[in-house]
Amino acid sequence: MQDKLMTQALLLSRWIELNSRNLEVRVVFEMANLIVTIDGPAASGKSTVARLLAERLGASFLDTGAMYRAVTLAAMQAGVDMSDEEELLGVLRDSEFGFAVKEGKLMVLINGIDVTAQIRESEVTANARYIASAEKLRERLVRMQRQFAAGEEKIVTEGRDQGTVAFPDADIKFYLTAEAIERAKRRQAELRAKGSTESLEQIQSGLQERDKSDQTRAVGPLKPADDAIVVDTTDLSIEQVLAKLLGYVKKNA
Ligand code: DC
Repeated sequence: MQDKLMTQALLLSRWIELNSRNLEVRVVFEMANLIVTIDGPAASGKSTVARLLAERLGASFLDTGAMYRAVTLAAMQAGVDMSDEEELLGVLRDSEFGFAVKEGKLMVLINGIDVTAQIRESEVTANARYIASAEKLRERLVRMQRQFAAGEEKIVTEGRDQGTVAFPDADIKFYLTAEAIERAKRRQAELRAKGSTESLEQIQSGLQERDKSDQTRAVGPLKPADDAIVVDTTDLSIEQVLAKLLGYVKKNA
């Protein structure tokens, strides 16, 4: 399993253009036997749980937030106007993005350079909203996500719009939530481990700003799909969330 994950790489700039959204969706569902989507707000625990769930199911794992972050960083490096969608599309076209899971961790490359740590920096986090709200850019990223899924037998994919937009016919959809203060505490623990001294208040207000921007954008807004299973993780450990999700997958998929 680990070997499979380690050798798995997605070169985003080399996807095959498919003609229509319907054809694309059909191709995905003909090829992937199991699609599990996990959406939810920042710091709801979805990345960790999605990765572990993928491992347990022997499935591939797609962290779509890392895609948005990588394009954001590439746009920052290129010095383009972040509010100009054509310029952002140019960055997407001209850069080669690589995603690979190595030793259980996602590695991200831009033009062959490892930017795994850089895409998590706070400036990238703050600028990601430009990419997240650019309609055509989102369309391209969703297409790449479907393309990736089409090549996999089983996939666990996480983000904001996976159950609503990218994979509306997924086998099982989860939406993870947690109270804002709990999410801020989790994010603080992560940041402290990296040496950051940001206060809990600062972190919580940053998360609330991102929630608002994610929930109110016109395209691919953060919301549970009508048929999503909503799991409140406030009082649950990662192991408990994982056990719950595994139980649902075994029962429903
Ligand atoms: O999950 P994350 O914090 O790594 O996401 C980074 C940014 O990308 C965040 O601003 C939300 C956005 N995003 C999105 O709009 N749609 C997705 N499917 C995944 C992430």
